[in-house]
Amino acid sequence: MIKKILVTGGAGYIGAHTVVELVSAGYEPVIIDNLSASDLTLVRGIEKITGRPVAFYQGDCRNRAFLEEVFSKEKFPAVMHFAALKSVGESVQKPLEYYDNNIGSLVALLDMMGKYRVTDFIFSSSCTVYGQPDAIPVTEETPFKKAESPYGATKQMCERILEDVSKNGLRVLSLRYFNPIGAHPSAQIGELPIGTPNNLVPFVTQTAAGVRPELVVFGNDYNTPDGSCIRDFIHVVDVARAHVDALQYLQQKKENRIYEVFNLGVGKGMSVLEIVNLFQQVTGVQLRYRIGNRRPGDVEKIYADPSRIMKELGWKPVYTIEQALLHAWQWQKKLSGLS
Ligand code: NAD
Ligand code: WQD
Repeated sequence: MIKKILVTGGAGYIGAHTVVELVSAGYEPVIIDNLSASDLTLVRGIEKITGRPVAFYQGDCRNRAFLEEVFSKEKFPAVMHFAALKSVGESVQKPLEYYDNNIGSLVALLDMMGKYRVTDFIFSSSCTVYGQPDAIPVTEETPFKKAESPYGATKQMCERILEDVSKNGLRVLSLRYFNPIGAHPSAQIGELPIGTPNNLVPFVTQTAAGVRPELVVFGNDYNTPDGSCIRDFIHVVDVARAHVDALQYLQQKKENRIYEVFNLGVGKGMSVLEIVNLFQQVTGVQLRYRIGNRRPGDVEKIYADPSRIMKELGWKPVYTIEQALLHAWQWQKKLSGLS
């Protein structure tokens, strides 16, 4: 059996953690990444964790000549597609870049898969596809609201494209991640935000490390028990593990046409202030923070109903949020030279 798997965006945060889990499960991941939002730090980290070199091609998923080079050299039965631009705020400023990159990459990849008869595809979708849902937890049947941002719209469109193309003989699983946080327990790989982080946990760890003067909690007047927003935080290694489960599930299926979606969250809502307090508890570090205004576009509360992925893929999280925060801190300390 061919053990090679193409991993686009494998030099990025979630892709790199997945590459490690693929290697542990006996697969041979082949990474392609244009390094537009990363560098080789995580690739080197992957090699330290696994103790072996990883195949890496630098190039853009929209570049068909580049894809052709990789597809003709390497033979793989499945593609995991992480490569995308992912900043919600930036997508509002630069919608065309987001539509071009996120849709263009998918279309070019699917085209090449057709040409080389590669049939299995695992897609990085997002809970943003739901917008502000009417009821929580959200199941996979919860209807999409109008996307709040061009980024969210690209994920909705990509899912639609995949559903359409699957009817012509593609086998697709879309995993809708909720809020991945944390880092590998070895502290060799983790999140590497460019510039000021948009996301909560890298902002928390950078503040704790003294890179940022203070964290601003965006609003404490929401209709939630402590007034701050509620999210479904999930350890990034659990997200990565789900991809191996998804691959094995897909590979044992016989059908030629598959389009299935799975929520990938732990199913428990935690508030922003709970995260701040838990971080202080597990690390013993006092965090400078203040309450600020609401951030435009934020959803008040959202968390997953993950029963489908648990039942169908047999996946369940193995890490706690305490561990995720501790691992994120260990990674930050390494980056900041504090450990
Ligand atoms: P990331 O930015 O760390 O990784 C993405 C990688 O893709 C980067 O290394 C970047 O250089 C590469 N890339 C971007 N465009 C490319 C292109 N055209 N060709 C080749 N490489 C390209 O992001 P991440 O957090 O690892 O996210 C991975 C995927 O998961 C993305 O599709 C993202 O939308 C999705 N997702 C992320 C989150 C999250 O909170 N991190 C949540 C839901 C969904
Ligand atoms: C979490 C909570 C903020 C920073 C985004 C995307 C989503 C998915 C995951 C890709 C919110 C609050 C944050 C800060 C704060 N990505 N916060 N101070 O917005 O839930 O989801 O990332 O698909 O699509 O929308 O994640 O980490 O930005 O915010 O108070 O400095 O933390 O207001 O309530 P979000 P986040």
